Amino acid sequence: MNAPVGLDHRELAYSMPLDKIDVSDPRLYYDDVWRPYFERLRREDPVHYTPESPYGPYWAVSKYRDIVQVEVNHKVFSSSDEVGGIMINDAPKGMERTSFIRMDPPEHDEQRREVSSTVNPITLAKMESLIRERTNMVLDGLPRGETFNWVERVSIELTSMMLATLFDYPIDQKAKLIRWSDTFICDINAPDAPVHSEEERFAEQMRFAEHMNEIWEERAKKPKSFDVISIMAHGEATSKMTLRQRMGILILFLVGGNDTTRNSMSGGLLGLSRFPDQFRKLRENPELVTSAVSEIVRWQTPVIHMRRTALEDAEIGGKPIKAGDKVVVWYISGNRDEEQIERADEFIVDRKRPREHMSFGFGIHRCLGNRLAELQLRVLWEEVLRRDLRIEVVDKPVYAYSNFLHAIRSLPVRIEA
Ligand code: HEM
Repeated sequence: MNAPVGLDHRELAYSMPLDKIDVSDPRLYYDDVWRPYFERLRREDPVHYTPESPYGPYWAVSKYRDIVQVEVNHKVFSSSDEVGGIMINDAPKGMERTSFIRMDPPEHDEQRREVSSTVNPITLAKMESLIRERTNMVLDGLPRGETFNWVERVSIELTSMMLATLFDYPIDQKAKLIRWSDTFICDINAPDAPVHSEEERFAEQMRFAEHMNEIWEERAKKPKSFDVISIMAHGEATSKMTLRQRMGILILFLVGGNDTTRNSMSGGLLGLSRFPDQFRKLRENPELVTSAVSEIVRWQTPVIHMRRTALEDAEIGGKPIKAGDKVVVWYISGNRDEEQIERADEFIVDRKRPREHMSFGFGIHRCLGNRLAELQLRVLWEEVLRRDLRIEVVDKPVYAYSNFLHAIRSLPVRIEA
């Protein structure tokens, strides 16, 4: 689609031929100009066929109700790597990192059940004090009266500590986990990508797997503990996994919980700063923090899309889908659907049904870690409010070049001295 810089995107989105709209272009998210294209699709062509794109032909599903319809019908709309996986870009042949997010039942259900105890309510209750302690440490260490990058000093710092805890990995080596996570999820065409080919990425993934496998083997010999690796090393459905399978499931936890929560921490501050009356309302009514957290996750929508592949002929929103078609659900658009969510472009801390958003997906693949993410975000905002930190965003955010993760790379801020 390649819109020239400086163009009025609203005008362009409404004047271009409908069949030329291709919402897969990572530039739309990098330049933060995606809104009018989806607005037009939701109005005029909610289940939109894009005949040509860098990822081949695909259906773009942009309305809330149609997205739910696709997600709950996993018998027809498959997540399996064998037919292409969960991203608009097909899983690279021979280099897949299959895990239960990229599987259909029954394998999906067995593995998910096995690891669900890593984030069950009992484990989360135990984690809360540790999360609070670290959040306090990070917030107290922030400079006052000078500009710094919130993404690095807060979002990455807190989520990398959480990752180290999930894996029971040495906390002083947490930067390694972040580097791996960034490598495994980046768009290889992004200017700042740590790798620039699928082969390079695969080689890094194997290095990661071999390193983690040593830890896995050690934990298999010790009694079962609380961390993800130990739970998998002792689990019935997971203990006999091959190195490649271990790689897939470890990467799922590495990536699943990292960038998503990180970008909610950054997006939350951005949302509150763009809607200062809402920030004020939250400060005056700190009990709204739980609903504000859901609004943060909706407004930011950290995962832009998920992809499914039709296993048989079907229909969505009156459109005929053929077996083998690529069907892409755009959460970022469903979360802005005015038919479902009133004043959807606005950030509102006291919505009537704040958890109604689609950022965690629906159906059998609904995010396993959603309560953990909410816990981390709640503690962060409770502690910001308790300290009455006056945080000002002093420059525009820099977004990632990606059509999968709605990621903020930099957010310059200053805290009042
Ligand atoms: C705000 C933060 C987060 C967001 C927005 C998010 C979003 C998502 C989405 C969209 C899916 C796929 C849903 C679908 O296909 O219907 C998913 C799945 C998943 N997420 Fe999250 N996630 C977040 C945090 C986390 C955390 C902290 C963890 C780590 C424990 C995690 C682990 C997973 C796993 C394991 C799956 C696969 C579930 C399955 O296939 O059954 N996520 N997440």
